[in-house]
Amino acid sequence: MKISVLTMFPKFFESFLGMPLTKRSVEKEKAEIEIIDIKSFAKGSFRNIDDSPYGGGKGMIIRCQPLLDALESVRTENSTSYLMSPKGKVLSQKKARELSRKEHIILICGHYEGIDARAEKYIDEQISIGDYVLSGGESAALVIMDSVIRLLDGVLREGSADTETHESGLLEYPQYTRPSDYNGDRVPEVLLSGDDKMIDIWRHTQSLLLTKKYRPDMFERYNLSEREKKLLEEAEASTSD
Ligand code: ADE
Repeated sequence: MKISVLTMFPKFFESFLGMPLTKRSVEKEKAEIEIIDIKSFAKGSFRNIDDSPYGGGKGMIIRCQPLLDALESVRTENSTSYLMSPKGKVLSQKKARELSRKEHIILICGHYEGIDARAEKYIDEQISIGDYVLSGGESAALVIMDSVIRLLDGVLREGSADTETHESGLLEYPQYTRPSDYNGDRVPEVLLSGDDKMIDIWRHTQSLLLTKKYRPDMFERYNLSEREKKLLEEAEASTSD
């Protein structure tokens, strides 16, 4: 897939482009990423890309001309454009999957107080990364790219995205690495047993317990099977002993 980012701050993305996962996705030709500097599209003697709002008020608004010229320079009939905005629908794992199936996504980073409202109708959708206000869309675009790139086929090891939190509707089970005894705190014995079936059952039970405890909202939405109900009851009974 191709990802185009329209921003006033291209340097913001440099370290992300150098991260192992991003580099791997580009080297394996799973992702093509281009960072477009909106500033290079500014016309006129002042070459300003933002201006103060009509009617007065604080902050600066990105002007239509440089933003829409930048958008037109990358848009094709296979593109879907997204404005990073607190007004948008909140990003979820489902949305990240939806984006990962697109041929070309364009992520538009608004800055300061936003963009000229007349530009919004040229953009397909608005996406928020949560109910808080950021000073610009750049960090939101990074979050979206990270969540999308790792879902592209062949970027992560086979199947490793499937067991993750939010994919299954449950939180992920706890993981441990060496040493098996850290200051007297031992890794659960079952994980050292080599019994794959028992390990799977333990992990799944832990996922159920953790989700119920920390994310009751997710647990509520999850459809528990009879077998899972039993696993949970047994685990809860054994911890209350
Ligand atoms: N720009 C400002 N706040 C934002 C948010 N919460 N999500 C996406 N873009 C934003």
